[in-house]
Amino acid sequence: MRLLKENSEISKRWFESIIQEHRNSYKKGTDRDFIDIFISEASEREEADEISTFTDLQLYMLIRDIIGAGTETTATTIRWILLQFLHFPEIQDKCSRK
Ligand code: HEM
Repeated sequence: MRLLKENSEISKRWFESIIQEHRNSYKKGTDRDFIDIFISEASEREEADEISTFTDLQLYMLIRDIIGAGTETTATTIRWILLQFLHFPEIQDKCSRK
């Protein structure tokens, strides 16, 4: 449980530093990625004085969801592929030739 909490804190700091880097180098009209697009949308809504869900907390949660959803699924898929290669070397051979 302690390790889980520590990991969560470490990744929170990492994601926050990525968001901050984006804010520091953000140039209006030249969106580089998802974070820039989110920042752009948030600032447009702020300028229009809109009540908005485009908050820093929301951005952090979205990044966490995307990374979380992509990491374990991809790792498990690769592990299964490697296991199947061990069982079916002829398929492994076919894949490596491709
Ligand atoms: C082999 C790798 C992957 C598998 C097997 C996989 C599988 C899935 C499955 C089954 C769902 C649920 C779909 C549903 O019920 O609606 C899902 C959703 C999602 N996946 Fe993946 N995924 C993989 C890789 C990734 C990667 C690399 C990312 C991000 C970079 C990602 C991000 C997401 C997100 C954000 C959702 C939620 C989408 C939504 O509900 O709007 N996934 N994935």
